[in-house]
Amino acid sequence: MQAEPFTAAPFVVGKSQPVDGHIPIEETLCPVISHEWVNAEYKHLIVDASPKALAVRPGQFFNLLCPAPDAGELWLRRPQSVYRIDRPNERLEFLYKCVGRGTNGLATLKHGDNLNMVGPLGIGFTLKPEWKNIVVLGRGVGLATMGPISQLAGDNGVKVTAILSARSREFALGANLFAEVGDVIPVLDSDGSSAVENVDGILKRLIAEKRADAFYTCGSNRLMQLMKRLGMEHGIPGQVAMEQVMACGLGPCYVCVRTFEVDGKKELRRVCIDGPVFDLQEALGW
Ligand SMILES: Cc1cc2nc3c(=O)[nH]c(=O)nc-3n(C[C@H](O)[C@H](O)[C@H](O)COP(=O)(O)OP(=O)(O)OC[C@H]3O[C@@H](n4cnc5c(N)ncnc54)[C@H](O)[C@@H]3O)c2cc1C
Ligand code: FES
Repeated sequence: MQAEPFTAAPFVVGKSQPVDGHIPIEETLCPVISHEWVNAEYKHLIVDASPKALAVRPGQFFNLLCPAPDAGELWLRRPQSVYRIDRPNERLEFLYKCVGRGTNGLATLKHGDNLNMVGPLGIGFTLKPEWKNIVVLGRGVGLATMGPISQLAGDNGVKVTAILSARSREFALGANLFAEVGDVIPVLDSDGSSAVENVDGILKRLIAEKRADAFYTCGSNRLMQLMKRLGMEHGIPGQVAMEQVMACGLGPCYVCVRTFEVDGKKELRRVCIDGPVFDLQEALGW
């Protein structure tokens, strides 16, 4: 039987043979290697991944089929960006917050179960060769989305200053990844350092020290607006990873549209296929 590049049957990691097809997205069954709580709200999920899934780029996401956490059914997949890409061991890692039925169902997966995922999806972060010092600023689940920027920076010899905003130190996720490629500045609600005025001061200092060739942000509207304003004032390019409730994750349903402003004109764009990473100056926030 001739193999199809994209069939109804999912690719089963460890069993299926890679198919020589030109479509980069596939549905994959990935064995769960480990699945641990990192704090009271977040779980860290590691799965074996297929060659196509391993081609994921920082900022791209997978649409995960979550088991139902109860007797009901769960119809829609849930988007999760990849947190770490472990190509040598052919594994992908996700870091996610348990917030509702989908993520609480996802949390029930055990070692040896299969995670059904579709992807990689969307447009990820980019890094221009002339950017040698970048600033990453995130909060909440946005910290998970920005985790792989540390790998992008490491692979390109770029130094990162990561400002991780969180309620308390245990929620400043990704600090270990960013410590490998630069400096980590946790800004916390618990000691008041997460106040926008304080983050504003940190960013202005980094700009003055020429440590801000580009800005990257995710997870907080207030912090995004701050970076956008400073980026505009100082001519610093920026990228923002947007979140939006999704259905198909592939483009046709238009559930995920947000408004952007391009050359003074308002534009609707789909977060799943036009993003989730967008030009910071074109994003209007939420
Ligand atoms: C591209 C993308 C990447 C993402 N990456 C991550 C990640 O790495 N880690 C992580 O923890 N979460 C991530 N999210 C958010 C994640 O998809 C939602 O938390 C999840 O879908 C919630 O599903 P649920 O059924 O558990 O909760 P629901 O019952 O559907 O919702 C619970 C609460 O979460 C809100 N919510 C639901 N979906 C989203 C969404 N897409 N964005 C924002 N709020 C939402 C709802 O409005 C509600 O308040 C990402 C979202 C997108 C769009
Ligand atoms: S989720 Fe369907 S178009 Fe984006």
